[in-house]
Formats: sequence, C-alpha cells, structure tokens
Amino acid sequence: MEKVIGIDLGTTNSCVAIVENGTPVVIPNRGGYKTTPSMVAVTEAGKRLVGHIAKRQAITNAENTVYAAKRLIGRKWNSPQVKNAVATSSYKIVEGPHQDVRIVLRDKEYSVPEISAMVLQEMKVIAEDYLGEPVTKAVVTVPAYFNDNQRQATKDAGEIAGLDVIRIINEPTAAALSYGFGRNLEKVVAVYDFGGGTFDISILEIASHGVFKVIATAGDTFLGGEDIDARIIDWLVQGFKEEHNLDLRQDRMALQRLKDAAEKAKCELSSVRETEVNLPFIISSGRNEALHLQRTLTRQTLEELADDLIERTVDICRQTLEDARLGKDEIEEVILVGGMTRMPKIQQAVAAFFEREPCKGVHPDEVVALGAGIQGAALVDDKQEMILLDVTPHALGIMTFGNVFEELIPANTTVPTHRTKIFTTSRDNQTAVKILVMQGDPAKNAEDNELLGEFILTGLRRAPKGTVEIEVTFEINADGIVSVRAKDLETGLEQSIQVTATSGLTRDEIKQMVDAAKDDLVDRRGSEEFEAAKQEAEKLITEIEKLFPQVQQVVASSDFGRDAIDKAKAIVEKARAAIEKKDVAAVKEQIEGLTRTHRMFKGVVAKT
Ligand SMILES: Nc1ncnc2c1ncn2[C@@H]1O[C@H](COP(=O)(O)OP(=O)(O)OP(=O)(O)O)[C@@H](O)[C@H]1O
Ligand SMILES: [Mg+2]
Repeated sequence: MEKVIGIDLGTTNSCVAIVENGTPVVIPNRGGYKTTPSMVAVTEAGKRLVGHIAKRQAITNAENTVYAAKRLIGRKWNSPQVKNAVATSSYKIVEGPHQDVRIVLRDKEYSVPEISAMVLQEMKVIAEDYLGEPVTKAVVTVPAYFNDNQRQATKDAGEIAGLDVIRIINEPTAAALSYGFGRNLEKVVAVYDFGGGTFDISILEIASHGVFKVIATAGDTFLGGEDIDARIIDWLVQGFKEEHNLDLRQDRMALQRLKDAAEKAKCELSSVRETEVNLPFIISSGRNEALHLQRTLTRQTLEELADDLIERTVDICRQTLEDARLGKDEIEEVILVGGMTRMPKIQQAVAAFFEREPCKGVHPDEVVALGAGIQGAALVDDKQEMILLDVTPHALGIMTFGNVFEELIPANTTVPTHRTKIFTTSRDNQTAVKILVMQGDPAKNAEDNELLGEFILTGLRRAPKGTVEIEVTFEINADGIVSVRAKDLETGLEQSIQVTATSGLTRDEIKQMVDAAKDDLVDRRGSEEFEAAKQEAEKLITEIEKLFPQVQQVVASSDFGRDAIDKAKAIVEKARAAIEKKDVAAVKEQIEGLTRTHRMFKGVVAKT
C-alpha cells in the first residue's frame, strides 16, 4: 500500500509522521530531532538551508533567513498582518504581482508558497530517508481558522514541493484524531491549540467506532508565541532606549539576537521564576563604544506583557462554546496543543475557564503531525474505521448591492457541503453578471471580509430583465476549499468557474516553481550525498594514516607487506583525487577500498 505522510507545517516548527504497522510514529530528522524549525535561508554562496541549519546561522545572516512564513501565506499585501510583518521582520518583504507577498533572499524574490514548499520538501526528504523509498502523498495540516486563500496557498506549497496533498486537515482536529485513535472513546473534547503563530479552539464529539465530529471551531491566525516574543522585544527595546537613547530596531542583526533571546527567556520562564537576558555587544554607541544589553525578566512581568493576548484566546473559547451551544460542564476533556501551552499562565487560564484540569496525555509538539499521519493512512486503507466530519470556520457568501454580505453557508457547517442560489438579470438584455465571493463574518461589512475571488457569468441570453435565471452552486470540499459552478436554468448550459484567489499564484507560476524546486533538490541531494561520502572517506584516511607507522614497522620486512603498504597508499591517493574532483561515485568506490585497508591495518596492529 502506498505510504502517506502527515505533515504539521507549523509557524515555528514542522513535524512529519506516518502510521507504521498500525502505530502512528513521528519521524526524526537527521539530527535525531522530532521537529524541524520552519526556517529557510540562503547563504552568501547561494546555498539554500532549511531547518536547524538555517536556524543556527540566523543571527549572522538575519536578512536572508525567513522564519514564520506561515503568518504571510495566502495574505494580501495590503492586509494589516502583512504590514505588521513588514515592520517587524528581519527579512525583506515586498509586494508581488497579484497584490500578494514576496520575500527577498539574496536579491531573489520568492512567493510565500515557495518558502513553505522548501520546508515541506525538507519534511518529505526526512520521511524518504527514514523509509528508504520515495514519498509522494501527504496530508498537510492548517490552522482551523485558515480561510480559503490560506488553504489554497498551502496546497500550492505542497504541489511546489512535489507532494500530492491528498487532504488538508485542521490542526486541532488532527490533534483530536491522535488523542482518540484506537481508544474507542465517547467524549466531548475541547482542543486548545496555541502555537508559534496561530491560535485555534475546536470542540469535537468523539463517538465510538472512530467517528470524530467537529461541533464548532474558531481562532485567530495572527496570534501566537511570535506575538508574545514581540512583547518581550518591545520591552527590551524600550528599556534600552530609556537607558541609552538608541533604537535597537535599526539593526537587523541586533533584532535577530533580540528575537532569539526573547524566545529563550519566554521558554525558560515556563520553569523558572526569573531569567536574565544578556546580549553583550548588541550595538555600537556611535562613539566606537560597544553597548551591552542586560536585564532581568521575571515570570510576573512576562505574564503582564502577555496578559491581553492570553485573555483574547479565552474570549474566543467562550464564543466557540456558545456557538457549539454547550456548557462548560459538557466538555469532558480539554486537550492542550502547541508549544505555548507549556506556559504556566496559559495552563492556568485554560483550567480556570473550562473549570477542569487539562489533559496532560498528549505531546503538544507531535500530536498534530501524528493525527495527519493517521488521517493519511485512513484515506488509503479502507480497513481503517474512521470518519472525520469537520466544519468550515467562516461563513461563505457573496457581496450584494450596498456592500452587504449575503450569507450562503454559515460558519460551523459540516464540510463537504454546497448551497445553490438563483440569480436573475436586473436589466433588459443583460448578458453578464458579476459575482464577488466572500468569506468571513456576515455581521461585519462586506469589505471587512476576505474577498476570495470574483467571477463574471458571460454569454447570457438576451431577454427581458428578470427572465434569465442562473443557478449558482457554492461548494466547500473536505479540504475546506471553495469552488463555484453556474448553470443557465433554461438552456441547462453549465459554466464552471474557478474562484481564483486574488492573492494566489497562477497555474503557470506554480508549474515554474515546481520545476525550480525539483532542480534545487537534485542539486542539494547531490551535494549532501557528496558531503556524506567525503566525510566518511576522510575519516577512514585519517585512521589509516594514524596506523601507518605501526603497520610499516610490522610488515616492512616481507615483500607481501611492502606490497600491501603500496596498495594502501595508492587507494588513499585515489580517494583524495576523487574528493578533489567532487566525484561522488568515485569517492564511494574508494570507500570500499579504504574500509578494507583500514580493517587489514587494524588486524595487523592488533596482532602485535
Ligand atoms: N517551554 C515553553 N514555554 C513557553 N513557550 C514555549 C515553550 N516551548 C515552546 N514554546 C513556544 O511555542 C511556540 C511554538 O509552538 P509550536 O511548535 O506548537 O508552534 P507551531 O506549530 O510551529 O505554530 P502554529 O501551530 O501556530 O503554526 C513558540 O512560540 C515557542 O517559543
Ligand atoms: Mg502548531
């Protein structure tokens, strides 16, 4: 059976999992870590770095290192969130050709799906290394509160990475799947997921025989650990300004160091009550004098800095419970997901709101990927008994005259779903109708909602007004992705209209990006393979050379021994030449000879 991987594409960390012999497991990366930083960098030499290796060089290469790209995916250039990112990021964000967002690395512009694709590709490679075979199919998770544009852009990222994303699932739903997997539970649970970039709350009913039904979901896709880090950075920058009258934000490297230190302090304060932020030589005073930043941050101060953000998550929980028409006492378990839920204040706030201690049984960093892996396995194996019923987090509608949002599909409707609506012409001989598809909250003005796209029905029959009736079907599939179809009711003529995201990529662009990503992988895999072979060969050469004098003493007296030594020298020389030429195949060939020589040398030395 074909293997399907589950990928939790996080704002801060990504994780990949698979079901092996019926058991979901997280796949560690080459460094042995179960999560990989969602960071991408390009070095001065033009080399692309992803994951831990990108994170390690972030301070010295701040301008060309991308973090938290997920906060930008599927967003429009003029959105407040993008403006916020432009003002606070150490990398450069510019406007793209479709009012979208591009990130500049070493003078080259990348779309956000391309950056996310680099992370996805890394996760794919981690899985392939572990499984020893190519992987093409994946289930990728997104925040429950992601809208259509964000989901579509995530799917595009998967395609660019060379993955067939067979399903997009919501992160809290994935967590619940993993929590309930194989336990035959009957329970109403709340999943509180506070990660690096996003907050989600979902309330689910888990029924026997693997039925997982989401009752209500809500969230904020721009509320996470990043915002708490930003508060700490503000506090540090402000304090420094008061002391030295210098703005640390002017310096990208200083900013990256501050970001690092802020996150570290925040994490430490989950287990200790105070910590010191110590950043020597953070900036020059302008009088050739280096200034240091040194301040003590207490848990209490951190809690004050983060208080309103935590309160916002609680407000969303309250609203979701109302939407679900459930009382707190009807929630039988609260599951904490996401790294931020390690913060004691957050655990307390959740416990106080739900009036129950949250469950400690799931791993906050791994549970989402495990759930995606479980869903992936269930999609290709019909022996798996599991039914997943998720909901759409936002209402779907159209914009009508006077900027009114006319709701067609309310929030928290189970997906897949569809609704039809009959449109009639409003003028005589009208041959076209323009329809704006919106997603969001009908209580708000239409323009405050997300415009998913617009389409024009053309070629309508010339007839008196009101006599041409067009039936338009709005559909949301199991991925939460929207499509629209239209039919002339009299002629039966069907028009299929793709709701093209106004901030998305065109098919042509995606195709180009797919090719570019493939080329890069071939390059990267090639160079990694060479690097590994070179290291192995060099290690053997060093060992052999260390043994040389001893071996010479022992065997030099016989012809056979001299012959063996000459052969060994020749192999070492050949291996060196192959390394010099960067010829992977030749280096690998010499490794065999080197291994044999090494073994023989060790044998000779051991006998003496
Ligand atoms: N011990 C800790 N105390 C406080 N915060 C922590 C701790 N460990 C991790 N975090 C924070 O958790 C966040 C990362 O959480 P996680 O890995 O769940 O996010 P993500 O899945 O990448 O993001 P998202 O789900 O929002 O896209 C970071 O902001 C990190 O600083
Ligand atoms: Mg997450």
